[in-house]
Amino acid sequence: MPHLFQFAYHNPTRIHFGPDSFAALGELIPGDARVLLLYGSGSIKRNGIYEQVTQALSAHAWVEFGGVEANPTLETLTRAVEMVRAEGVDFILAVGGGSVSDGAKYVACAAGYAGDGWDIVSGRHVPQQALPVGVVLTLPATGSESNSAAVVTRAATREKRVFYAPPARPRFAILDPQVMASLPDRQLQNGLVDAFVHVCEQYLTFPVGALVQDGYAEAVLGALKTLAETFAERQDPVWRQNLMWAANQALGGIIGVGVPQDWATHRMAVELTALYGVDHGRTLSIIQPWLLRETIDAKRAKLEQMGRKVFGLAGASAEETISAIENLYRALGMPVHLRDTEVADPEATARIMQALRDHGNSALGGHAGLDEAKTARIIAAACGR
Ligand code: NZQ
Ligand code: ZN
Repeated sequence: MPHLFQFAYHNPTRIHFGPDSFAALGELIPGDARVLLLYGSGSIKRNGIYEQVTQALSAHAWVEFGGVEANPTLETLTRAVEMVRAEGVDFILAVGGGSVSDGAKYVACAAGYAGDGWDIVSGRHVPQQALPVGVVLTLPATGSESNSAAVVTRAATREKRVFYAPPARPRFAILDPQVMASLPDRQLQNGLVDAFVHVCEQYLTFPVGALVQDGYAEAVLGALKTLAETFAERQDPVWRQNLMWAANQALGGIIGVGVPQDWATHRMAVELTALYGVDHGRTLSIIQPWLLRETIDAKRAKLEQMGRKVFGLAGASAEETISAIENLYRALGMPVHLRDTEVADPEATARIMQALRDHGNSALGGHAGLDEAKTARIIAAACGR
């Protein structure tokens, strides 16, 4: 049976890219809007972005809410929702990375919902409408600036979940690579690996003859590999703009249309953040190589293709491709074991497995047939036993 593509693709986010893109901001937001400027823990006040944004908003009515944490919590975002209601806000402008963008999507959906906000995150309530959202991106990594996904954590129960809200997909995204100048190396490494794994989750399954999707995925993976190999040039504006565009394209939706996907790495890795606060990008470099080793038979053909097309390894075996991926992470200084991080919990394997069971992710199935035994072996290997 041939694999026939079946999809609807619509990405309405208007992207303004480049050094002059801030100039568009004032015109992208309706003049009569009452704007909430949503931001994180304060980096934008230290690197000049706050001034640039507030200058662009000088003709608008706006209020601000700062303090959205990395891996944003329901608890903090609920206070932003209260402000939106109290102030009559009707436009949310996120200025930050994936956490602030995701937080803005949640706030945009929750503002008009009278029930418990966790209903939105858990999927019990699927928002049909949301306040309009715009994003000024300060960290290339997640692709959140032009997709409909958002990840929110309920701190009280240590649950981190993704939800999809097309009405909250940003109307526009400002991508000015100059904002990357103040990013610590750690965030650049995280962003590069997050984007790399986003493409892998949409590519490393089995061949279906998708010439365009495979070719585009390989182009983005190849770009990210080059950026990893030239990490020393990260102050170069050309290096920066390539990372910003690659990370956007990795999860804007186009790569994955109509092809089988497997998000198991993300679905398992999330528990490392929920339990131990490990950065999202780092959770992926810890889980993915072990997951690929455990599922190698199901993914063999695509791993071999990736070895040839992305790593330039003639006649590459699947095993060699996995080693090449792991070496790329190691060369970037990313952890590939939980013990490479500051987490030192002798009970980590058991704790992570319990969290996966509690959240229905311990036997994800999928094309690689992930059952509880395979999942347990992946987690045990990633935790370094
Ligand atoms: O809090 P602020 O002050 O903004 O500082 C942030 C934060 O400490 C800092 N930062 C951002 N831009 C900066 C900067 N520091 C200096 N200069 C700048 N220009 O970087 C730190 C990390 O920021 P964060 O937004 O948390 O990082 P990232 O963009 O990696 O986002 C991670 C979140 O996105 C979710 C993750 O689970 C995590 O919660 N994801 C969202 C996805 C989506 N919506 O599609 C998909 C991803 O797979 C991911 O799950
Ligand atoms: Zn990710």
